[in-house]
Amino acid sequence: MRGLEQIPWLYDLGLALLEHGQLGRWRAWLAGGARGRTLDLGTGTGRNLPLLPRGAAVAVDPHRANLARARRRAPQAPLVLARAEALPFRDGAFDTVLSGLVLCSVRDVPAALGEVQRVLAPGGTLRAIEHVRGDRAVGALQDRLQPAWTAITGGCHPNRETERALREAGLEIDAASREARGVMRRLEARPREGSLRTAPAGRHDP
Ligand SMILES: C[S@@+](CC[C@H](N)C(=O)[O-])C[C@H]1O[C@@H](n2cnc3c(N)ncnc32)[C@H](O)[C@@H]1O
Repeated sequence: MRGLEQIPWLYDLGLALLEHGQLGRWRAWLAGGARGRTLDLGTGTGRNLPLLPRGAAVAVDPHRANLARARRRAPQAPLVLARAEALPFRDGAFDTVLSGLVLCSVRDVPAALGEVQRVLAPGGTLRAIEHVRGDRAVGALQDRLQPAWTAITGGCHPNRETERALREAGLEIDAASREARGVMRRLEARPREGSLRTAPAGRHDP
């Protein structure tokens, strides 16, 4: 069954409402800090794309209907049907990877973060907006709601400890970029020196 993330008009309607506030400012921050060759991971309906310099961005998403909607927003951008866990790009292909509300939805977060690090060029940056598991009662409530929420949204997990996942994957969060508001986070992260940056077994770069 399709969830909100696979119904592009409904997703856009919801986001248009939410982006009147802080989320809109954070999206501007997310895209505004992109430098060089940029990958928009899980682009969805392509809301980041018009905010990026023309010709600089490639976008991926595993859902065709989302990419069709993104195509209307960004007629020129290369759009690729792919998952974060197996990106069809060569090592070091991008200077910036954007992840706007995506790490809550990918099936395999460590695999996705491994791929992000692999496709980032040396000195490259992951910029992310995410919601995370809250403390105490908030976290417990998110845990209870998670199965229903994941079904309704079509994949989103409200209770992921994404900052911990970033650190465990070998990414260093830049403290100066990090902002926390309730369960929302925005941050920039870079692969730690020496962290693993190899393609998953069986994958070959084009
Ligand atoms: C909440 S939406 C965010 C869309 C967009 N980034 C934005 O900021 O509006 C989550 C997106 O992640 C995509 N997604 C889900 N699983 C994914 C995966 N394994 N790899 C890449 N994208 C994925 C969904 O199709 C959906 O478009």
